[in-house]
This record gives sequence, C-alpha cells and structure tokens, in this order.
Amino acid sequence: MDIDQFLVKSSLQFVDKASFTWQTPSNIALVKYWGKSEPQIPKNASISFTLNNCHTITTIEFQKIEKSEEVQFEVFFEGSKKEEFKPKIAKFFQRIQEYCPYIFEYQMTIHSQNSFPHSSGIASSASGLSAIASCLMSLEQQLIPALNADFVIKKASFLSRLGSGSACRSLEGPLVVWGNHPIIEGSSDLFGVKFPHKIHPIFSNYQDVILLVDKGEKQVSSTVGHELMFDHPFAENRFQQANENLTKMSTILQNGDITSFINLVESEALTLHAMMLTSNPYFILMKPNTLEIIHKIWKFRQEKNSNICFTLDAGANVHVLFPENEKETVLQFIENELSSLCYKKEYICDVSGFGAKQRS
Ligand code: DP6
Repeated sequence: MDIDQFLVKSSLQFVDKASFTWQTPSNIALVKYWGKSEPQIPKNASISFTLNNCHTITTIEFQKIEKSEEVQFEVFFEGSKKEEFKPKIAKFFQRIQEYCPYIFEYQMTIHSQNSFPHSSGIASSASGLSAIASCLMSLEQQLIPALNADFVIKKASFLSRLGSGSACRSLEGPLVVWGNHPIIEGSSDLFGVKFPHKIHPIFSNYQDVILLVDKGEKQVSSTVGHELMFDHPFAENRFQQANENLTKMSTILQNGDITSFINLVESEALTLHAMMLTSNPYFILMKPNTLEIIHKIWKFRQEKNSNICFTLDAGANVHVLFPENEKETVLQFIENELSSLCYKKEYICDVSGFGAKQRS
C-alpha cells in the first residue's frame, strides 16, 4: 500500500488567510464495514450509497501563525462553541499530522451544521469528518497549486478514513467501495473509490427514507463495536462473507436483479446486528419498534408486490430503500403505517447523491 503518496513532498506556498466551505453527505452501507485494525484498516471491503439530503456544511477559516507544538483550533456547531466536540477532532488531527504538516501553522476556526437533527443516530461522523478533510484539502491545494483534482479527492477520502472509517465513502457517489477487493479495480484499504461499473437504471436515484426510531445516545459506540470483532468467534467467517457479498452486489448493481438486491441488503443488515448479539460483551441496538417496522416492511412487500427493503446502521433507526418508480406508494405506506413507530413521527426522505460539493 502506497501511503507515501499522501505525504507532502513539495514546498508549501503559505498564504496568510484562507477560508473554505464544503457540503459533504452521509452514506448508507449495503455491504457493511464492521471490524478494523490499526490505523483504520477495514477487515473487509464495503460498499455504500452516498446520500444527498443528509449532509454537513463546514467552513474552516485558516489564519497563519508561527509553527505551533499543538494544533490550534476552535469548533462551533450550529453557532455555539462546542468544547465537547474537540477531543474527537483533536484525535483526527493527530492521526493526519504526518500527512498534513501545515495544520501546525494555522489557527483553524471550524463552523459546522447538519441538515439532519443532532444525535438522530444518523452517521454524522461520516459527513462531519469528510467535510473537515475536504476543507483541509482545499487549503493544501492552495499551498501546492500543482496538485491535481483526482489526487485531491483521493487524499480527502484517505484523510476522512483516518477520522472515521465510513467517512471515506462520502466524497463521491452514487456508490463507493472502500477496501481492497479483487473485482474492484483501483480499490484500496486506504480510501474509497467510485463503483467503477455502469449501474442498472433501476438503481438510479435510489430512495432511502430514514425512520428515526430512537434519538438517544447509543449505549455502545461504533468504535467499541468494531473492537469487539477482535476476538469474536464468527469474525473470520464474517469478513470472508462480506467480501463474497461485495462480489455478488457488484453483479446485482449491474444486472438490476432487484430480488437478489433485497435479499443481500437485508441479510447484511441482520448479519451486522447478529455480530453485535454474539459479541462478548453482547449488546442489542435494535428497539422493539425496529422489529415492528421490519415486519411491516416484509408484509407490505409481499402484499403489494413491492421492491421495498430495509437496512440498518449501528443503531435502532431503519433505512427504507426502494426504487424511484415506487416513490408515491411507499411514501404513503410510510406516512400511514410506519411514521407512528418513529420518535415524534419523524423520518427523513433521502436519495442517492454524488458526494462532496465545495460551496465557497
Ligand atoms: C455499521 O465508520 O462509524 O455504519 O471507523 O470507528 O469511525 P469508525 O466507525 P464507523 O462505522 C460504521 C459502521 C456501520 C457500517 C458501515 O457504514 O459500513
């Protein structure tokens, strides 16, 4: 693995001041990443739909300072200063410092906001960290004008991964693979790559309605969940299965076999949660309403001959996935039968999207 390519080798043309704003989305995995080794190397390849509406907008203002021993930064979230967000970001800066040495030469003021409710269980680390990484890469591009655009996006994904694994899949879209896999040319454990094949039209503008079942803090963080895969009795089989599922998913995405898509996506979601149920210590992130919703989705699919299916993140919320041509009937079903099972009847309508966008 060529990590050296991400080190800064050119001389830097420092500027006194700069400011960049990026909008980066969340993503939802179809084949899940669960289990990693240091430094943020996934145990298996994963693939996700990039989302469109669930995103973070982040501005970083950079002010040149004398080279400092420690990274100097402040964080504001939705207008208020957030000391409690600093440790995670400080850890991120620590992990990327050898690849972005210029962070010691700027005072950074970070302003962030999410398009989705805070602590709704939506992967805010994926959108949040990919937004910070994108702003840093805009600065790097200004300091090294010769950098090319492909490298900038690749390094933005590489840096995002060091913040949160799944964040490296949020830079491009509509489908991104992360993790070295024999059938995905150019794939790497170090960064995400756009799914390289033509996608069947049934998967264009794929719909994802996120049902907010539980908005509280999770009892077990993803980081702890990943760690529990270390001496998990089923870990090796799971990693192998995920890589095989990625091969199957690649074929399905190209040939439009939606029945196999449904089967694979739901099996991946339940397998992820099965890993949690069989960890030691074991834990359950699904809530009673998660199961109630799953059963209602299955019933609707059978009765209406629909192609609706579900997937789950590391939490209780349910992502309802369906093709664009079923939008009207499925949205009605969600409003009439599923919304009452959500916290305050809240759900978010999203669709596959194209990744990070620079706003200024
Ligand atoms: C269940 O990317 O949140 O959503 O690398 O520790 O930050 P860290 O974990 P994170 O894990 C996401 C796990 C998942 C599956 C997935 O997105 O592939």
